[in-house]
Amino acid sequence: NFIGLDLGTSGLKAVIVDSDETVLAAVTVPLDTSRPRPGWSEQDPASWNAAMLRALDELRAAHPESMRQVRAIGLSGQMHASLLLDAAARPLGPAILWNDGRAREEAAELEALGGAMAASLGVPAMPGFTAPKLMWLRRHQPSLMDAARHLLLPKDFIRLELSGELATDASDAAGTWLMDQSTRQWSAEAAAAAGIDMAILPPILEASAKAGRLRPALAARFGMEHDVVIAAGGGDTAVGGVGIGAVRDGDALVSLGTSGQFFLAASAHRPAPGAYVHAFAHALPATWYQMGAMLNGASVLGFVAGLLGERDVRVLLAEAEAAFNGPSSLIFLPYLAGERTPHNDPDARGVIFGLDGGTPRSSLVLAALEGVAFTIADCLDAVCSVARRPEQAGFIGGGARSLLWARILAAVLDMPIRLLESAEAGPAFGAARLARLAAGGDPETTLRQPRLKRLVEPERHLVEPYRERLAAFRALYQTVRPSFA
Ligand code: XUL
Repeated sequence: NFIGLDLGTSGLKAVIVDSDETVLAAVTVPLDTSRPRPGWSEQDPASWNAAMLRALDELRAAHPESMRQVRAIGLSGQMHASLLLDAAARPLGPAILWNDGRAREEAAELEALGGAMAASLGVPAMPGFTAPKLMWLRRHQPSLMDAARHLLLPKDFIRLELSGELATDASDAAGTWLMDQSTRQWSAEAAAAAGIDMAILPPILEASAKAGRLRPALAARFGMEHDVVIAAGGGDTAVGGVGIGAVRDGDALVSLGTSGQFFLAASAHRPAPGAYVHAFAHALPATWYQMGAMLNGASVLGFVAGLLGERDVRVLLAEAEAAFNGPSSLIFLPYLAGERTPHNDPDARGVIFGLDGGTPRSSLVLAALEGVAFTIADCLDAVCSVARRPEQAGFIGGGARSLLWARILAAVLDMPIRLLESAEAGPAFGAARLARLAAGGDPETTLRQPRLKRLVEPERHLVEPYRERLAAFRALYQTVRPSFA
């Protein structure tokens, strides 16, 4: 058996997968994010390891036999964080996350270095990336930067706990704005531009490579009887692609977790920095992808549920589905944390437009689903300005649990959406595949597409109304944009 761990933003998910790729068990441990100031977003790295230990302890308690047979553990994690460690590999303060907007000036300075730098690093620098956040720390907390001896990405901190190894992988290093995407090695030029000492950067492995072995004490604690290999693991978007076999030129997927992405696999590094398309290293050797990245995904639905005082989003989705016969009367700009592709606008915020005294809550829920779908349409357009339009897209992450969301996406994108076996497990399932590869699994059989559960075709009567709403959505953003700054 293989374990996949995905260190997400709202929770850490662990799955056990057997040699036929059946998910034997899954557990999610929630994580808290702190927002000490508007636009900031931080997590305590100790909470990541506590969540990992709790998840694997729970799996051991409930599925001892499956845990006994584990051969390898694969990792996936939220990208772009800055996590600095001291000489004893202890965290120097909280991790600053991908959806933190404080480093806007530093990102603008790096962006001003020009298109050739942006192309080699995959995309122009944006505030949530690691390099501008380290520049911000240098300016605002210089003693912390002086004490820093190691930089790790979130899933790498979990590996450090599991195996004692300090390393990262190409698909996660891709999101730091410090890696040359075509050579898949640290960029001395970028490090110099950001004022970062390259000695703090860990070695870059490939995501499917072996990166150490589980400490014997932990193997005993989790009830594992074999020598357990740890795979290097990768950034969550790329590992999600591995999970559904989106690994060949033109394979596409939409991911809706806390964040959202439109992702297109590529056999070469094809940068297109002008459109804020990310051209990043994939979680497989000699493979890349192009991506439109959204800062607000399924988390927008969670936000609306909180606003409406409804704990169970399924209740809200059922209400919205029952009332659904076309676009909502509202327009919802879902930019709760600002936006990356195509706007690079850390100041953008959410807007609900068109309320009247009789607006039912189902309209608000529907408008939230639509707003996120419209941002995916923006990302698809950005990606298609530099690549061939894919014919279909897989759908992964927690958002893929909603058939209504898939129907809206199919209509808004005018593209069939593929619902696949195990796709809701998203990157955790992909991480289990990386574990299998690290343990010597055959790439050909490991990277196949999971079984198609359902193909959601665009409903013809919805396509035109949604085209009009998308135009109105874009116009609303342009109208209110000057008021955000
Ligand atoms: C990708 C991105 C997100 C984060 C958090 O560029 O920002 O996938 O990794 O999930």
